[in-house]
Amino acid sequence: MKGAIISLGSKSSIMVAEAMKKYFDEVEMIQLRNVEVSLGKDAGVLYEGKPLGYYDFIYVKGSFRYANLLRSIAGMLEKKVPYMPLPGNVFSIAHNKLLTQLILQQHNIPMPKTYVSPNVESAKELLEKVNYPIVMKFPEGTQGKGVMFADSLASASSLLDALGVLNQPFIIQEYVETDGTDIRALVVGDKVIGAMRRIAQKEEKRANIHAGGKGEFILLDRETTKVAVDAAKALDADVLGVDILEGGLGPQVIEVNASPGLQGLNEVSTLDIPDELAKFFFRKTEEVIKGKKTEDAKSVMKQIALENGDTQEVVSTLQFRGEKIILPEFVSKLTRFNDRKEYSIKAKRGKLEIEEFKI
Ligand SMILES: Nc1ncnc2c1ncn2[C@@H]1O[C@H](COP(=O)(O)OP(=O)(O)O)[C@@H](O)[C@H]1O
Ligand SMILES: [Mg+2]
Repeated sequence: MKGAIISLGSKSSIMVAEAMKKYFDEVEMIQLRNVEVSLGKDAGVLYEGKPLGYYDFIYVKGSFRYANLLRSIAGMLEKKVPYMPLPGNVFSIAHNKLLTQLILQQHNIPMPKTYVSPNVESAKELLEKVNYPIVMKFPEGTQGKGVMFADSLASASSLLDALGVLNQPFIIQEYVETDGTDIRALVVGDKVIGAMRRIAQKEEKRANIHAGGKGEFILLDRETTKVAVDAAKALDADVLGVDILEGGLGPQVIEVNASPGLQGLNEVSTLDIPDELAKFFFRKTEEVIKGKKTEDAKSVMKQIALENGDTQEVVSTLQFRGEKIILPEFVSKLTRFNDRKEYSIKAKRGKLEIEEFKI
């Protein structure tokens, strides 16, 4: 089987590609920056200007800056490649915290109370009703950069004025007290294969590694594991980083990452994370390909049955034209009845038999 990773060539991607070589016959690393998608006539995915070849498996990943390209590539390949761990739309959903919260909400995944307002005026009214502290976020911010905290109506109002000037969409979120920590769980299939607690630097509320946070390995309890796995299921993603705040009310998901970095987690984990991913990718690809073969075999068997004259039975309603019965097409195909021969038709209440008339 032939597998590929389309990525920016990060250390994580290289580690997974190396691990995949133990299982797949061939593994290729494809540089995301050299991939283009064309739509319209002759639509397709191009790599270094030429149509991308055939692969049984492709893992597409990359930074949030490439969200549109990642989505386009995954979307275009979805039907062609037997197995891809992420559907195209995950890249745009994960890129936007509001869209993420919406999907998670539809699947009843717990999350902090989150508000979207049509404009600054209505947001101001909202700020008078909420409990403090609160969090304001740009839906497409990352690495902690678009996250602001306000511990009173006064500071929230001045933040809001600044946001109004920027004319940028934002969300208002309830603050979950976690002592400046958050949890990153890596979901693969229906398991959490590793999790880290990230702890914010002193005098910092954001636990992001980019904001100076430190990670330590943790074993998740059953409830948090279920929330992480359910979040990945809600997005139909087989590999997903799920960020969780462990508040007094239990685990609450704040965001998901479609291209989670593995290095940090691998360093603190006892499991070989890239190997876990590679094994999972191989097993799933094999399953899909085998499944396809059985499907193909089934349709061949059906064809043979048709040709050998075996009886086929279907349950369906009957079509009528006026008082006359019209039988389904497969009946004429199977029986090879035609309008040049004569037929004996026997009918009684609840039963119909038609046979070639033989003298
Ligand atoms: N509702 C919240 N309550 C408490 N802390 C939060 C909340 N939302 C975010 N944080 C803190 O801020 C950090 C960054 O927020 P997050 O929503 O993950 O944005 P980013 O995409 O920038 O990482 C989180 O890791 C967490 O430590
Ligand atoms: Mg985050």
